[in-house]
Amino acid sequence: MARFIDELKRSHHCSELRAGDAGKDVVLFGWVASYRDHGGCVFVDLRDREGITQLVFDPDLKGHGDAPKKAYDVAQSLRSEWVIGVRGTVVSRGTNKNPRLPTGEIEIHVVELTVFNKADTPPFEIQDQIDTSEEKRLQYRYLDLRRAPLQRTLRVRHRIHQTTRRYFDDQGFLELETPVLCKYTPGGARNFLVPSRMHAGKFYALAESPQLFKQLYMVAGFDKYFQIVKCFRDEDLRLDRQPEFTQIDVEMSFVNQDDVFRVMEGLIFKIWKDVLKIDLLEKYPSGRFPQMPFEESMGKYGNDKPDLRFEMPHTDLTELVIQHKGGGIPFFADIAEKFASGKLRRDLPSEIVKAMRVPGTNLSRTEVDKLEDFVKGMGAKGLARAKVDASGNWTQSPLAKTVSAEMREAINAATGAKDGDYLFFQFGKASTVQTVMANLRVHLAKKMKLIPDVGHGGSFNFLWVVNPPLFEYDEDKKTWAAAHHAFTRPHDECVEMLDTDPGKVLCYRYDLVLNGFEIGGGSIRLHDTNVQAKVFRALGITDEDARQKFGFLLDALRYGAPPHGGIAIGMDRLAMLLSGADSLRDVIPYPKTQKGTDLMTDAPNRVEAEQLTELHIRTVEPPAPTAAPAKPAT
Ligand code: AMO
Repeated sequence: MARFIDELKRSHHCSELRAGDAGKDVVLFGWVASYRDHGGCVFVDLRDREGITQLVFDPDLKGHGDAPKKAYDVAQSLRSEWVIGVRGTVVSRGTNKNPRLPTGEIEIHVVELTVFNKADTPPFEIQDQIDTSEEKRLQYRYLDLRRAPLQRTLRVRHRIHQTTRRYFDDQGFLELETPVLCKYTPGGARNFLVPSRMHAGKFYALAESPQLFKQLYMVAGFDKYFQIVKCFRDEDLRLDRQPEFTQIDVEMSFVNQDDVFRVMEGLIFKIWKDVLKIDLLEKYPSGRFPQMPFEESMGKYGNDKPDLRFEMPHTDLTELVIQHKGGGIPFFADIAEKFASGKLRRDLPSEIVKAMRVPGTNLSRTEVDKLEDFVKGMGAKGLARAKVDASGNWTQSPLAKTVSAEMREAINAATGAKDGDYLFFQFGKASTVQTVMANLRVHLAKKMKLIPDVGHGGSFNFLWVVNPPLFEYDEDKKTWAAAHHAFTRPHDECVEMLDTDPGKVLCYRYDLVLNGFEIGGGSIRLHDTNVQAKVFRALGITDEDARQKFGFLLDALRYGAPPHGGIAIGMDRLAMLLSGADSLRDVIPYPKTQKGTDLMTDAPNRVEAEQLTELHIRTVEPPAPTAAPAKPAT
């Protein structure tokens, strides 16, 4: 029988022992984190998931026969990341403590050693701080995960999961599962498709969220549902987007928007307390998060997920520009003219003019020039700007030459510009202006160090963004489209406008924002079949279309659907913000790269021709990349 594991059971983890344990006989298992041979003794730092303990192999250790000498002989061959087990005695290190380790007061004088497994030399050191490339770390993810910072983040995830489950169970929610292999339904995020072997030419879709099924649970009378669930979206990836991610998904019957908010605020308060030991009541004494209308968020910050840890709001100058007929600035005059001639309409998303006032003291002129490249990278044509002097005049700006005094004064007043401030302008297509200005605001704040780190005076700023429009205008098709999904409930007082002025219809849709990230979103659903018919009419969806797209949901809603609503929180984003990570890849155990690949397993990969035949699939090879044309000789 193997002596270690079968006979000698682990007595402690590597973070547990203190001076008070001196004299105890203990058994520890773990990995060799470091190894030193000093003056006839071998010293090893033994690591397990809880911490590190120092082992001493002394061939002359008395009172244990020849066992310590045998252990010492083997210890001389130990190398990094070998997996070992030891039995020994806890000894106080007296004045020779290591204050950097929680176990630094003691060491283990080893009597017996076993080598469970040797290890190849790892491609990078298993240390807290390393500068190995992310590609290499992802390729050897199991080694990267052995490092303490990643172990800590995955523990944060574990804690969030446990707190979430306990919280919802206490609140009377049922944790219910939903299918991953679903019917493809249009709208929402792009689905991954899965071919059906048994049904030639047919496909399942991987669930992009449990949305329809959780609504069906409400129709089925389950009243309160939650699930920690994997979702799959074939989208372009970013630092805060993965193709496979986790939601805390929630749905409730007989609730309004405020009821949903209260339940979710309760969860977030609890998670912050359990995971970070932070009492959010100190910042939000009412236990509630602030709310901001969507329109205000777009106007002031250019998107619906503003980072409120700093100010620097935008000012919409479109009306001023129209009033002043461009005020001597040719680009502005073009826009004013388009409105005057009726080519552009204020009630449809069209072109806008926005400005942002930035206190200039922190920015050098070179830095300001570099901002132009930054905005061009986002599709802007350039970055119009002006520096304001003590008498309100503009300098460092081509606009200064032509702008009328009235227009300049009106813009200074509207933006609150003072001596030394910069004004940055964007104008043109509303969606581009908003994106560029929103990103510029955050970029500048980071550059000017306006956002203190959490833990260094920084804070967690939560916000509900509420009351967005139900429809958005599709400029290409010149029609209205559902801004989110077609089953979001409009505000009661807006129902009349569904036929007459769809652009003004607001709805019960909400996003929860934390420090500039959308960490959750949801809505109160449309359960009333009459209003639903009106919404479909406004969207130009015929009965036949509706049946084809949403048949089973429409049927279900006719069999006694209670008023209901819900939300989904992005678990990965939550874990990222809670643990101060920069990317979702740091908080997902086995993440995909920005290109959607798994560098460790090499997914996605090609499959055998027979497999494709079985699935009734023929692939079309992408055209071979054409060679770059040879550069003409200069
Ligand atoms: P939504 O699409 O807003 O709503 O998603 C909810 C939250 O999930 C997170 N999230 C993502 N996280 C990582 N990678 C992604 N690709 C990704 N996409 C979304 C975000 C987001 O706020 N069914 C609705 C919810 C509802 O209406 O109840 C839904 O899925 O944090």
